[in-house]
Formats: sequence, C-alpha cells, structure tokens
Amino acid sequence: MTNHYSLPISFDLEAYLKQKQDLINTNLKRIFDTVKRRSAGSLDAAMAYSIMAGGKRVRPILCLAAAETVADGDITATAMATACALEMIHTYSLIHDDLPAMDNDDIRRGKPTCHVKFNEATAILAGDALLTLAFDVLSDRVTASDKKKTAPSMENQLKIIHMIASAAGWRGMIEGQVQDMESEGKKLDIDALKALHLLKTGALIQAAVMAGVILGGGNHRQMEMMSAYAHNIGLAFQVTDDILNVEGDPVVMGKAAGTDFSRSKNTYPALLGMTDSKDYANELIEKALAALSGFNYRADPLRAIAHYIITRER
Ligand code: IPE
Ligand code: IPE
Ligand code: MG
Ligand code: MG
Repeated sequence: MTNHYSLPISFDLEAYLKQKQDLINTNLKRIFDTVKRRSAGSLDAAMAYSIMAGGKRVRPILCLAAAETVADGDITATAMATACALEMIHTYSLIHDDLPAMDNDDIRRGKPTCHVKFNEATAILAGDALLTLAFDVLSDRVTASDKKKTAPSMENQLKIIHMIASAAGWRGMIEGQVQDMESEGKKLDIDALKALHLLKTGALIQAAVMAGVILGGGNHRQMEMMSAYAHNIGLAFQVTDDILNVEGDPVVMGKAAGTDFSRSKNTYPALLGMTDSKDYANELIEKALAALSGFNYRADPLRAIAHYIITRER
C-alpha cells in the first residue's frame, strides 16, 4: 500500500517482532505444558494446535510494547501473563470465527482450521477452553508467571480482567461478530460498518494496548493518548484485513481470499472501493501516529507497528 505520510523513525521492526514473538511463544508453551494433562486428549491437542499454529501475535506484542513505552523499568515479566491471555482470547475467536456456522473457513494460519483438523465439537470446546484459560491465567497470582514478585498489583490485575472481559464480550468483540453475521447480505452504511469493525476487531486491540498502559503504570494523559492510538490502529487493522481479503495472496496470508465477497460481508472495499479504503487506512494510521506525538523514542515500536498494520501482507 502506498503511504501518504512518512514514518519519521528508523526502527528495526522485523527484529523487534521476531524477538517478541519468540518470547510470547516460549511463555505460551510453558503455560500449556503446565496445564496439560499427563495423557493429553484431543481437547489439549486442539488448543495447542491452534495457538501454536503461527499467528503474528499482534495483540500480545501491542500489550508489551505499550507497557514498555510507559514503564520505568523492565516490565516484560509482569506483562507476560496478560499478553499470553490476550493471544488465547484472540485464538479462540478465530477458531469459532472459522466454524461452519460462522465463516466456514478451512484454512487458518496456513493450516487446516481447528474443526477440519479435529471435529466441530472439539473446535467449539477448544475455543471455550482457551477463553476460560485466558481468565484463569489473568487472575492467577502465582502460576501465571511462576514468579509471585512479578505479578501486577491486585488493583491493576482486577482492572485488566474487567477491561478485557468487557472488550471480548457481549458489548465488545462478540457484539461485533453478531453484527458481522447478521448483516451478511444487507448493506450497512459507513457509520454502522465502522461501529462493527471497532467492535469485532478494534475492541480487543484497544484492550491489549490499554492493558499494557495499566501494567506499565501509565498516567491519565498517557492513557488518553494511547487510547486514541489504539482506537485508530484497531479500526485500521480490520480495514486492512478487508483489503487483504480482496487482493492478498492466500499462501502468504495463510487463509483464503475472496471470501468476504462470496459471503456478501460488509467490508470497506465493498462499500468505499479499494482506493478510498486504502486512503482511509492511511488516514487512520496518520491519526494513530499523531496521538503518539507526546511520547519520545520509547514509543517507536508502537509507531512502527502502526505502520506495519496497514503495510502487512498477512
Ligand atoms: C485475524 O487476526 C482476524 C482479525 C481480527 C482481523 P490476525 O491477522 O491478527 O491473525 P493471526 O493471529 O496473525 O493469525
Ligand atoms: C474476525 O474477523 C474477527 C474475529 C475473529 C473476532 P474476520 O472474519 O473478518 O477475519 P478473518 O478474515 O477470518 O481472519
Ligand atoms: Mg468473521
Ligand atoms: Mg473470518
């Protein structure tokens, strides 16, 4: 995608993403090894299959990056349990999103979807179990990080649990998924489409950033700036997902293209056309970058991630 703005920093995002992905994957694996039954059955296998299938880890990385931007010292150990829980919620949402009753997709993260690899009942239950495991991990004072001294304060922990539950739930991501399903074949206006995208995808991304700010001890002004940043990248993320569904390479994306059109989904390209959709994604990222103008170089990872969100190919 061509950009109207220039990213005023030089930052090795590729190395940064790789380092964070490795860290998150190691910790997710540790959590799964801890909770796995001795003779793991298909539920454990399905959960591990989907979560370790190779997602980009954008939400946990945003949580860590936001925490690092505002924190005084190294906050990674404290933020890691929350970061992992966010990825569990996201992965559960993908397993259910792909089910025959929803988007009916066969490929996700370059592999057969959970219900194709296992079966529908196992996929539903693996999603349920990932969602509840996320709140198990979020509310754990000890085993989440295995180091009691690195746990967030009780107050912050409760705030984060409440915020993530709201964002993922019936007035957040689930409400967005309901609107997505119920509006198939009907034409939404631009305000309704924006509201849908902010819920189905924006809400969890916003919660990921704000959880990081809370964990890092951000002040009120930092909260406001980060909230504006998160709002804009969350929406831009789904606008880009819509764009990629039209012109992305299924092999690179690890999921099918052209499906939004065939299912008569409401998307930005369908409503505005491709050029205006790309312009809009650019505009959102300009706004996200403007929201970060009060931060110094420590917000560079967040700036680079904003840029990545609309230039990614997967
Ligand atoms: C895909 O999310 C679903 C949306 C909410 C748009 P991602 O593009 O973050 O997918 P993974 O986690 O990298 O597979
Ligand atoms: C997925 O949205 C949103 C959630 C899983 C909450 P989409 O259905 O548009 O995403 P993809 O294209 O299947 O990844
Ligand atoms: Mg969907
Ligand atoms: Mg889908």
